[in-house]
Amino acid sequence: MKDILTAPFLTEMARTATNMYRLGWDERNAGNISLLLDEETLAPYLDRGHVLREIPTGFQAPALAGRCFLVTGTGKYFKNIPDDPEANLGIFRLNDDGDAAQLLWGYSDGGSFTSELPAHLMSHMARLQVDPAHRVVLHCHPDNLLAMTFVHDLDERAFTRTLWRMCTECVMVFPDGVGVLPWMVCGTREIGLATAEKMRLSRLAVWAHHGIYAAGASLDEAFGLIETAEKGAGIYMKIAHLPWKQAITDQQLRQVAARFGLKVRPGYLD
Ligand code: 13P
Ligand code: ZN
Repeated sequence: MKDILTAPFLTEMARTATNMYRLGWDERNAGNISLLLDEETLAPYLDRGHVLREIPTGFQAPALAGRCFLVTGTGKYFKNIPDDPEANLGIFRLNDDGDAAQLLWGYSDGGSFTSELPAHLMSHMARLQVDPAHRVVLHCHPDNLLAMTFVHDLDERAFTRTLWRMCTECVMVFPDGVGVLPWMVCGTREIGLATAEKMRLSRLAVWAHHGIYAAGASLDEAFGLIETAEKGAGIYMKIAHLPWKQAITDQQLRQVAARFGLKVRPGYLD
């Protein structure tokens, strides 16, 4: 077996978490990441039959039975991941009933997967139905997106349109828009179901007064989605209270969509 600490999926996870921490998106234990690992990716590093312990998830994810995931640990600090990946991360196989994690590696101090596992696994299920290349779910607490949920209408069409109009790249990076959930108790099956419902139509889902979820085919894609939405939210929080002299129009957004062949969320442009 190869040394798992050298596995690209592990080093990339540590690098992503470090970048998120440095950007201020993941204070203390904030945020969580899950990465769906294909069998051929994991096989050189771990024996899928060697289960260290089994941890019930408390909910069913039958469509993911037998699939393996690399997931951040609950209560763990993103800033500490590079120094001790084995304590802060875990790799598990979801059992055949899809309701327990069979730990293959990690959570070495007796820990467990993130408290947000329902939102992660349910979002994986929703995204895989619409995108077979989907692999990553990422959650964090970026300042400007969070701030925006206090002062902006939470209607997701209005929220998306505001972000699209804050910088030209926004509509190019997330033409599928941003789902928005009202405040809900985190770490529950209910918020997991509601997040997955949003993820059917867009790869970004904002949790009012809490943070944001992103889904993608890679860590870079999910990270880039949040980075771009947070950029838009940052511009909004800088200018919302100032008199506007000019702004990007719907006609201009349509021109961008035509030039780059974007599938803009139907009904979101006037
Ligand atoms: P965990 O430490 O359980 O991953 O929770 C962090 C978080 O951001 C909750 O929403
Ligand atoms: Zn959170």
